[in-house]
Amino acid sequence: MVFLSGSTQPANDSLRFFAQKRGIGIGAAVAIRPLRKDSSYRTVLAREFNMLTPENVMKFKPIHPERDRYDFVAPDTLVDFAKRHDMQVRGHTLVWYQSEPDWLTANKWTREELMTILREHINTVVSHYRGQLVAWDMMNEAIADNASLRDTIWLKTIGQDYIELAFRWAHEADPKVRLFYNDYDSEGLGAKSDAIYALVKDLRQRDVPIHGVGLQMHVSINNPPNPEDVAANIKRLNDLGLEVQITEMDVRIGSGTENLEQRLAQQAAVYRNMMRVCLEAENCTAFVVWGLSDRHSWIPSHYNQPDLPLIFDKSFRPKPAYEALIEELQRM
Ligand code: G3I
Repeated sequence: MVFLSGSTQPANDSLRFFAQKRGIGIGAAVAIRPLRKDSSYRTVLAREFNMLTPENVMKFKPIHPERDRYDFVAPDTLVDFAKRHDMQVRGHTLVWYQSEPDWLTANKWTREELMTILREHINTVVSHYRGQLVAWDMMNEAIADNASLRDTIWLKTIGQDYIELAFRWAHEADPKVRLFYNDYDSEGLGAKSDAIYALVKDLRQRDVPIHGVGLQMHVSINNPPNPEDVAANIKRLNDLGLEVQITEMDVRIGSGTENLEQRLAQQAAVYRNMMRVCLEAENCTAFVVWGLSDRHSWIPSHYNQPDLPLIFDKSFRPKPAYEALIEELQRM
């Protein structure tokens, strides 16, 4: 599947150069603060990637902070940067239980009221970016860790058809953008990925406009995803006519300095294996890392310990994981 045909010529030793040759998107999650303040960040981003995902600024809470107010300043900055550097943008995300503003959660809504709120939100945000994004993580993490539907405000008040309604409303607002279901801990085979498969199969069978599944891929060297399982999962989604993208990859190596070199090599192998699986699958169209350099990853504060999960170090120097991705992209 040919994915990109950028007009500017990327540096011929960059990730984006080799990814373009292989016809896949290579992306990074972008945080607004370093994008505004750090020229090294901007340089590496534009040189190495042909796609970006806003890490936070398109989420419900920041983009729709009050019932009747939207804030597009930061996400517009990001989309402008992408345009200037011939990069595609994945929108992230329209419906996610972790980014709900207080005005939404503090009130008791009727089903009709909440449907109106969700429809207006989706319509306003998707319309604002109509024609400018390649994909939206339309629905994020709607399946819980126990493989049942996650108990969110939307499920409780609207009922389980909130999922299909959301896809339909987004498609009405921008019929060309690819709409994804995106989740974690479901890259390979297992109860949660089976539940996601069943959900998206049902949506496809009923002609709900869903186009892809995002495999987030927040993983660790201690328990890496099994490449055969990931390939099998991507294949069964292909059989449903769905595209797949690796949407948020990072690989934890744990803290401590002992055997750092060895752990970075293990990390490189995990990145390499997942890139290989993606390249070998006919429906895997993009590979996105969740942050640019170890300086800005969400992992250390979330797990409350240092880590080095990304492909550039804190000084933006390429790590073994970067070299592994370059090699894998060059391997025919
Ligand atoms: O926006 C406020 C800012 O005003 C304030 O100054 C700052 C002080 O701490 O907090 C800011 O909000 C933080 C935001 O990141 C922006 O930095 C939130 O507290 C923090 O919780 C938030 O974390 C993000 C998290 O999602 C929750 O939205 C992470 O950066 C981001 O990497 C993470 O990404 C998620 C994906 O969206 C979905 N999949 C899982 C992935 C990892 O959790």
